[in-house]
Amino acid sequence: MNDLAGKHIVLGLTGGIACYKAAELCRALVKEGSTVQVVMTAAAEQFITPVTMQALSNRPVYDSQWDAREANNMPHINLSREADAILIAPCSADFMAKLLHGRADDLLSLMCLARPIGKVPLLIAPAMNREMWAHPATVRNVAQLKSDGAKVFDVGCGDQACGETGDGRMLEAQELLDDVIAFFQPKTLLGQHVLVTAGPTYEAIDPVRGITNLSSGKMGFSIARAAREAGAEVTLVAGPVHLPTPRGVKRIDVKSASNMLEATVGCAQIASVFIATAAVADWRPDNAADQKIKKDNSGEVPRLTFVENPDILATLAQSPRGKSGELYCVGFAAESQDLLANAQAKRLRKGVPLLVGNIGPATFGQDDNALLLVDAFGVKDLARDSKLALGRKLIAEIANRIGARGQA
Ligand code: C5P
Repeated sequence: MNDLAGKHIVLGLTGGIACYKAAELCRALVKEGSTVQVVMTAAAEQFITPVTMQALSNRPVYDSQWDAREANNMPHINLSREADAILIAPCSADFMAKLLHGRADDLLSLMCLARPIGKVPLLIAPAMNREMWAHPATVRNVAQLKSDGAKVFDVGCGDQACGETGDGRMLEAQELLDDVIAFFQPKTLLGQHVLVTAGPTYEAIDPVRGITNLSSGKMGFSIARAAREAGAEVTLVAGPVHLPTPRGVKRIDVKSASNMLEATVGCAQIASVFIATAAVADWRPDNAADQKIKKDNSGEVPRLTFVENPDILATLAQSPRGKSGELYCVGFAAESQDLLANAQAKRLRKGVPLLVGNIGPATFGQDDNALLLVDAFGVKDLARDSKLALGRKLIAEIANRIGARGQA
């Protein structure tokens, strides 16, 4: 992916053991398409050398406000003017205190103060011992930095370099990368609560056997990520899949269609958008056996009978909130042919305002897809692309349709 293509990020390092993660982060930012200019404080250079950061960013590192390489001798001005964002990772407790007072006695703090505040966002990845993180001074400083307009990322929880365990360590490079990518996405769903179902369901025959559908869950997980990036609260009800939970998304794991219905109906009370991507099994075995059905040598095979599963999408679309439009319902149709006709018919049958068609066999398990959006006003093609890119486009289409008052 090239989610940061065209972006120029100034990556500031301050003193902390998490500097070792900044090397990985620098690499990840570059891999995602951005150019990275590293600026280090003297304390950061105690933990990692400028040589490493220069090699990874492919640019000489800046560490002094007196750097004569700049013709005007004003690196704090020049560096901050070119940036799409300044990301301080790791940001020590001391550096946060400095930022908040507007102090400017080294290049990094000087550059943060000199940045055009309305144009160059300041992103902060705190890193410190748990006692320092919990200290009222730090709590106060974080609140003040946020109200001054900085974006302060979460901290991780777990073992710390000092041997203690708790909150305060810096997020991992991949987590920070995802947060930076999300930061740049338009916030079209601020204030919305999006509920997504994803993956297959599993219907037990007995404790060791069952039937299921082909579905990797990738499309639904990408949509959940895109909705979160767009600023929504997101709940993802997932059938059995092996996928990591997108950052910031609340995930509820379920197995059967009945479990999925129960979890979904519960969450739908507070949701404003419901996107049903799950490949729910249409039927389940009537009376699943409590014990494993044994094979004997009689040649007899078990005869299974099935009952129909509840239709989760139709249930929510026909609920009072679905019908009134308070809960905007979006269905998916995986077809093997006649996509348009099938999608149009399914939209009416399910009673949903928007139905998204895709050709199942062409996308099962893949990282890309192509979508056909069908609503009461017409049809729109979203051409083949990665599932994440399509998820973002679909979220933008939904935001448009519900007239969400986001920030583009
Ligand atoms: O009827 P069909 O299974 O083709 O409909 C697909 C759409 O309905 C998808 O959005 C799917 O998530 C949803 N669905 C559901 N509950 C079912 C069957 C399908 O929510 N039992």
